[in-house]
Amino acid sequence: MIITIDGPAASGKGTIARRVAGHYKLPHLDTGLLYRGVAVRLLDRGHALDDVKAAIAAAREFDIASLDAERLRERSIGEAASRVAVFPEVRAALLTLQKDFAHRPEGAVLDGRDTGTVIAPEADVKIFVTASAEMRAERRFRELTAKGEKMTLEAVLAAIRERDRRDSERAIAPLKAAPDAVLLDTTDLDIEAAFRAALSIVEVARAGRGRG
Ligand code: DC
Repeated sequence: MIITIDGPAASGKGTIARRVAGHYKLPHLDTGLLYRGVAVRLLDRGHALDDVKAAIAAAREFDIASLDAERLRERSIGEAASRVAVFPEVRAALLTLQKDFAHRPEGAVLDGRDTGTVIAPEADVKIFVTASAEMRAERRFRELTAKGEKMTLEAVLAAIRERDRRDSERAIAPLKAAPDAVLLDTTDLDIEAAFRAALSIVEVARAGRGRG
């Protein structure tokens, strides 16, 4: 079974995907980490984030095993990832790895922006997780404050809106729900309720296809 979970920054898709994967004992790929990894390489080598050639080189030599650095999760790296993710050649260089992950024999859960539209359009279940920009900003703000980062709620909201704009308006593989994705709005749901709602979407889809 292939499950794709796409949506904007701070919608809750990552946590939902991790929990759904744990529930069904499926391997999970957070595809945002790949773009984050490319961005970190560029920054570490002193390249500008709009240096297309350097970005393509970093994407081509990308190694999925090098993916767990705490640093990849930093907010600034998410912004940087959104900038390198606009280059078609960077996306192309990361495509095979993601498609191979989706087609592991045991199945997979992938989360990101284009996993239901580009990476695995043939997925058995597609969920598109949304939440209002205000609610997403509030969640992100709480996380950042807990980590000791100093930022105003207004600044977090502005950054989220900017990232939504860049991810949705790019020419290739923009953030958008696949036509056959089920929408899951988490604005008024806590993480437990969002997880339960995601599970019931998966179960309905499985029942529809004879639990294959
Ligand atoms: O989900 P995230 O915050 O880790 O993603 C970081 C950025 O990476 C996101 O703003 C855009 C890009 N991204 C993408 O273009 N396609 C994906 N499937 C996942 C992430």
